[in-house]
Amino acid sequence: MTQPVALTINGRRRDDQVEPRLLLVHYLREVAGLTGTHIACDTSQCGACTVLIDGEAVKSCSVFAVQANGRKVTTIEGLAENGTLHPVQQAFWEEHGLQCGFCTPGFIMAAAYLLQQNPSPTDEEIERGLEGNLCRCTGYENIRRAVHSAARAMSGATDAASAQLVGSAAAPVED
Ligand code: FES
Ligand code: FES
Repeated sequence: MTQPVALTINGRRRDDQVEPRLLLVHYLREVAGLTGTHIACDTSQCGACTVLIDGEAVKSCSVFAVQANGRKVTTIEGLAENGTLHPVQQAFWEEHGLQCGFCTPGFIMAAAYLLQQNPSPTDEEIERGLEGNLCRCTGYENIRRAVHSAARAMSGATDAASAQLVGSAAAPVED
């Protein structure tokens, strides 16, 4: 048995028929073909699958696709605009906030959400804000540095960056 699901991903509307048990992360990767959202633990512990739903960071392995019906989803593929990296992506690159990169899409989505909520977080606030994301490679120091760097970059362009982040989630539906 399948069920209709209609959602807007990175500003584009999709209509599909899915099994009610299909997790959002599997829908994004296997139905929508957006493999930038990673899956590792499948039990809501690692954060590799983090996306934004209506602008809020959510672990997409903890949500059924049908629960996202009618919502706006932003994935890592939706952060860059017109070939320009989102400031958080740029900062992770410049500060080497990754090694193997498997956890990186989830960290970037979570960090972008954190900076939207708190434009100038302390070390402690970064640790708390990203505690749902696990990295097995970096030791977290460069990730913390990247978030601070992104915060500084965004402080001069807070409105634009914030609009970019929410914009891909809230952009008008395209057919
Ligand atoms: S795959 Fe979703 S939290 Fe690990
Ligand atoms: S960079 Fe390898 S798991 Fe984080």
